[in-house]
Amino acid sequence: MSITLSIIYLIATVTFVIGLKNLGHPETAKKGNLIAAGGMGIAIIGTICIHDIDVPIFIYIIIGAAILVGSIIGWLIAVKVEMTKMPELVSLFNGFGGASAALIGIVEFGNNSGGISHVATIIAAIAIGSITFSGSLIAWAKLNGMMWKDIRLPKYNLINNVFFLILLVFSIYIIWSHTESYLMIIFLLAASLVYGVLFVIPIGGADMPVVISLLNSLTGIAAAITGILYDNMVMLVGGILVGSAGLILTFAMCKAMNRPLSNVIFGAFGGDDVVAGSGAQIGGTIKKTNPSDAAVMMNYSNKVVIVPGYGLAVAQAQHVIHELEELLTKKGVEVSYAIHPVAGRMPGHMNVLLAESNVDYDKLIDMDDINPQFKNTDVVLVVGANDVVNPAAHNDPSSPIYGMPILDVENAKSIIINKRSMNPGYAGIQNELFFNQKTSMLFGDAKEALTKLVQELKNL
Ligand code: TAP
Repeated sequence: MSITLSIIYLIATVTFVIGLKNLGHPETAKKGNLIAAGGMGIAIIGTICIHDIDVPIFIYIIIGAAILVGSIIGWLIAVKVEMTKMPELVSLFNGFGGASAALIGIVEFGNNSGGISHVATIIAAIAIGSITFSGSLIAWAKLNGMMWKDIRLPKYNLINNVFFLILLVFSIYIIWSHTESYLMIIFLLAASLVYGVLFVIPIGGADMPVVISLLNSLTGIAAAITGILYDNMVMLVGGILVGSAGLILTFAMCKAMNRPLSNVIFGAFGGDDVVAGSGAQIGGTIKKTNPSDAAVMMNYSNKVVIVPGYGLAVAQAQHVIHELEELLTKKGVEVSYAIHPVAGRMPGHMNVLLAESNVDYDKLIDMDDINPQFKNTDVVLVVGANDVVNPAAHNDPSSPIYGMPILDVENAKSIIINKRSMNPGYAGIQNELFFNQKTSMLFGDAKEALTKLVQELKNL
């Protein structure tokens, strides 16, 4: 490899690391994305322009056309996608990454002149790439509602594990046999695609963000493997970064839900067999409030904490909540947002949503920092959040969310909860907080209820 290309790859690698670091904070995330994308652009241009072999002109035309068409399609999709649809877009992109790795593996199988480790790399690229491709397509179909049922074959865990073992043994056989048979590769491809489907179909719709993160990590591993195949440092490092970041995110999400990864993959949480009302029997009387009373309560507070949840995203109430926050701040009330790590349905969901309506980042306080502050809070306004404020996580060992870290809103002086009904949230369990004497329920769609609240506040 020429020294110029090596330097280009080094620069690209550094931009990936800087980009990743910047992605860690909402304020710098956009910049980080652009830096890493710029680095990738430099690496692509370098690879196309600097090489030792003669390439016919029509190859450049094909590559140029593919980049142009891909960029236009990617741009249009990314510009149009709504924030709540982001996980399915990520899933689709993951799938294409996996498909690329599998295709590279297939092409290289034909050119294979290396030893056993080279064949092993090719087989790994085909298998992992294909599993990621079909698994990601199923995840995408589930998230966009095309396939909303979780399909659980009888003894699906056993079937999946046996299938995986057969796939593994078959892959090892291809590697050891030094076969040149493309039929074997077609079988491997088909079996891997089927395994990807079997792996994802039983998983509950709302668990998909964890699975998508895992598939994202697999895409990274597949890319790193193709990097080994071509002895290409930038592919290798890029793949390793995606693979490890995806794994870290997967485990972070599992930790925030207090569930081992095995429980997401093999368990039933979030699927058809969620036990509504499991845990202790909860009941009592609830106290209702209305926008006018809620506005008075907040108007005369010193400190208000807003807890955004999934319902805020569904109602697209991020702009009106910001308006409410600004109005209260003008009236001298100290306002902040309490951010639970898995509030909503995707990592950083609330941060992204609130950033969209230009909420000041300094006002977003993470769970560990805001929890000690609740005892000094006059009013907590919970908007479309349920599980992340359910005290059963602390005090009901029979609850499926027992042990999950939550926002301790019950320590505040008063609590206003906005949701449409008494229906449970994602975990499918009732919330004793709704029956707390300090709690008032403000029923209604978040956007409508908050718009009325803002109006009442303006009239005060
Ligand atoms: P949830 O517990 O799902 O509760 C959301 C609440 O919003 C529901 O109870 C619903 O009640 C209400 N709601 C729905 N539409 C609404 C609307 N238009 N207006 C007002 N309220 C509305 O949400 P959460 O508290 O944010 O917790 C997130 C859950 O998702 C956790 O269990 C978490 O483990 C899980 N999860 C999160 C992630 C990530 S990474 N964020 C990934 C996988 C799973 P009504 O129907 O009565 O309105």
